Amino acid sequence: MKAACLRELSFFALVGLSWAIPTTKEYKGPSQESIIQAKAILDKYPIIDGHNDFVMGLRTYFENDLTNFDFNTNLSAIEPWASHYADDTDIPRMKEGRVGGQFWSSFISCDAQYKDAVQLFMEQIDVIKRLVQDNPNDMTFVTDAQGIEQAFADKKIASLIGVESGHAIGESLGMLRMLYELGARYMTLTHTCNTPRADAAQVESGELPVRSDGLSDFGKLVVQEMNRLGMLVDLSHVSARTMADAMDVTRAPVIFSHSSARSVYDHPRNVPDEILSRLTDIDGIVMVNFFSCFVVPDCSENHGNVLDIVAHVNKIREVAGVDHVGIGSDFCGVDISPEGLEDSAGYPNLFAALLEDGWTEEELGKLASGNLIRVFKAVEAIRDTLTSEEPFQAWIPSEEVQADESQCRMEPW
Ligand SMILES: *[C@@H]1O[C@H](CO)[C@@H](O)[C@H](O)[C@H]1NC(C)=O
Repeated sequence: MKAACLRELSFFALVGLSWAIPTTKEYKGPSQESIIQAKAILDKYPIIDGHNDFVMGLRTYFENDLTNFDFNTNLSAIEPWASHYADDTDIPRMKEGRVGGQFWSSFISCDAQYKDAVQLFMEQIDVIKRLVQDNPNDMTFVTDAQGIEQAFADKKIASLIGVESGHAIGESLGMLRMLYELGARYMTLTHTCNTPRADAAQVESGELPVRSDGLSDFGKLVVQEMNRLGMLVDLSHVSARTMADAMDVTRAPVIFSHSSARSVYDHPRNVPDEILSRLTDIDGIVMVNFFSCFVVPDCSENHGNVLDIVAHVNKIREVAGVDHVGIGSDFCGVDISPEGLEDSAGYPNLFAALLEDGWTEEELGKLASGNLIRVFKAVEAIRDTLTSEEPFQAWIPSEEVQADESQCRMEPW
């Protein structure tokens, strides 16, 4: 397996034990009646998913050559997808799951940092655009909140670009601006490595050394330039210190495109309560990650089920409020996820379980897509108040750019 496709892969897939492990809970899943009701609600309020790594596979398997590739077919019985560790997504399964919007991840691993990252990220943006162009009846390329609403009306999958992660810009604000012009609408500040301006979650566990201790001064400028552009600041993958620093300096709402609640399962990739509680004022959103190893203990023995995701959703709701939670599956980037949420067809199972937990239609609509659309509109409104501001001209101090030994860690999370 190429290093490039090892993302948030669990240790167990690496040793080939990732399937047929029964869940420890006795939950039988939501009733058929609830699933039918959930599907009707999601037909009205489609899912917007904050993070999907499907296009990473296009690079791994096809070197981004889409000749003869058909995304509008159930890929789960077709190679190479059938044997892929994360065969989760295609157009039929997205339709089954009521997906109306997807942030497709332009992802390149930390291996490329300080090397050819800038080119590789642009190639991933290019392949996302070609994938959408190849499927004009089902997908439409979108760069603003209004475009998402239009896509809903047209019954097409609003397809947006999220850049993962900050090493995509090298150390250049000019590259950040060009990524925005190419249509990127969020950038995750780090992946599993520190950048020279922002620390990753792994500094919290000691897997990486502290480098900027949160955001450096240049890192703060990057956040403020993203605000000026109208690019969503994505705080998934960063350390709690980086989250707090970004929230101190941001002028617009922030997002977590694929993270869950740390007080439900204590993992550095999840969001601590003290950060969740600040989302109410900042008007941000945490889009809940389904990766078993982020949501339940002993993920090798127990992949969890939809009730485990319900617990994360409810905790974020309890601490931040019902207006600040969304969905960010991480499909195609992870090898194991809870029973009932194995692929992009699964969202109605989660929404049915939430219905049975007492959620109203209006609240489920917010979770599915309403909150993300509101946050996106708020970020656009801030951008529109900043039009007289000049682009930041600063360059990162050269002594801060030195590569460090910790630049490339391939930890399973
Ligand atoms: C896709 O194919 C799998 C079998 O490989 C099947 O279980 C599933 O129901 C199919 N999904 C859709 C949406 O066609």
